[in-house]
Amino acid sequence: MTAPKKLFIKTYGCQMNVYDSERMAEALGGQGYVETKSADDADMILLNTCHIREKAAEKVYSELGRFRGLKDENPDLKIGVAGCVAQAEGEEIMRRQPLVDLVVGPQSYHRLPEMEAKTRAGEKALDTDFPEEDKFEKLKSRPKAARGPTAFLTVQEGCDKFCAFCVVPYTRGVEVSRPADRILTEARDLVERGVREITLLGQNVNAYHGAGADGDLTLAQLIWELDKIDGLARIRFTTSHPNDMADDLIDAHGTCTKLMPYLHLPVQSGSDHILKRMNRSHTADSYLRLIERIRKARPDILLSGDFIVGFPEESDADFQATLDLAEEVGYGQAYSFKYSTRPGTPAAERPQVDENVKSERLQRLQTLITRQQRDVQDSMVGKNVNVLFEKPGRREGQMGGKSEYLHAVHVANANVNVGEIRKVRITDSGTNSLGGVLV
Ligand code: 5AD
Ligand code: SF4
Repeated sequence: MTAPKKLFIKTYGCQMNVYDSERMAEALGGQGYVETKSADDADMILLNTCHIREKAAEKVYSELGRFRGLKDENPDLKIGVAGCVAQAEGEEIMRRQPLVDLVVGPQSYHRLPEMEAKTRAGEKALDTDFPEEDKFEKLKSRPKAARGPTAFLTVQEGCDKFCAFCVVPYTRGVEVSRPADRILTEARDLVERGVREITLLGQNVNAYHGAGADGDLTLAQLIWELDKIDGLARIRFTTSHPNDMADDLIDAHGTCTKLMPYLHLPVQSGSDHILKRMNRSHTADSYLRLIERIRKARPDILLSGDFIVGFPEESDADFQATLDLAEEVGYGQAYSFKYSTRPGTPAAERPQVDENVKSERLQRLQTLITRQQRDVQDSMVGKNVNVLFEKPGRREGQMGGKSEYLHAVHVANANVNVGEIRKVRITDSGTNSLGGVLV
């Protein structure tokens, strides 16, 4: 028997890339690859890239340059670029960096085995198509190996919203939902292998409308189907658009006990003028009213959001409206970014806000949000939460996991197993996690 070839995958960006990397490793497993934790001894290096942050492509090129020495040592080493930078740059990657053997866009991962074979034959392999066929159907089913208690499961991909700042509609393509039966089969399989919590992924997950036995299912209907799986204890989903928060999904937050009280609902700005220029198709007020309805269904829900500051034309008053909105919502978690241009998107062509102004606004917003996060985290002290234990902590005897609100929780001298869900009384609130004792 020949020794297995070694595959090193480096994953950047979102949870969907984490999921895709797992699936790519499985697909290449069929070609005799096993994963390795280091690039040094790899026979194939795959960078699964993200295009959402600034200068993403440049960072990929400089990372690739660092593999030159490895390729000199091992001429059989194959180097591939996957993900959204691969989609956006395409052939240009091979032109600028001849070390690269393979470029594959997110919609073509099921073609990886053939592409890998092509590189072994000494050819270059490029595929950035948006093929008709369902890549997930073509990708091998997941091997039966045991796994940790939490997993991601992609249910929807791509986006038709075309927010003026965003590359996703260009790199991931139009919005497509996977059929419900495939998702349910994959979920049951994950649960058989030890998974207790599944996070449903989609760039626009709450627009999910996958085919079911009697017509399309909404995301809420899919969640209720997942709810029936014995052994599955927790369901989460991300990322949602405010305009697709349907009534049945809001209701599910109040009635489905497996659906966790945590919702990531990006708003991007609190100014109606900027929201309009962002092509967001919601207003600050409609967002706030939506939050009100969600909180009515599930009063203890922890809300998370995304913000962009310094979008073109953002005035001091516009930015103040963002601070006001954040103040009113009270986020338990939020991510904020300075606007940065993405070539090919509408906002990239517009006059830009001064960099120093952006920095100053970002700092003010982050100060506000950090305080809110702190307050929400501190308010857990004295309460009982349910913790899904995921792994031993750094200290001897300590176990770590997540509460239903997605807070990291540590328990000292906890006699619990990975995968168990136990009630924990929170006793202290640290920098990045909560501490508690089993009840
Ligand atoms: N500049 C800054 N932030 C961006 N995001 C997306 N595109 C840009 C951009 N061009 C942010 C949005 C989105 C999150 C994933 O990244 O807030 O919700
Ligand atoms: Fe990008 Fe999200 Fe807007 Fe779609 S809804 S264009 S993924 S920011």
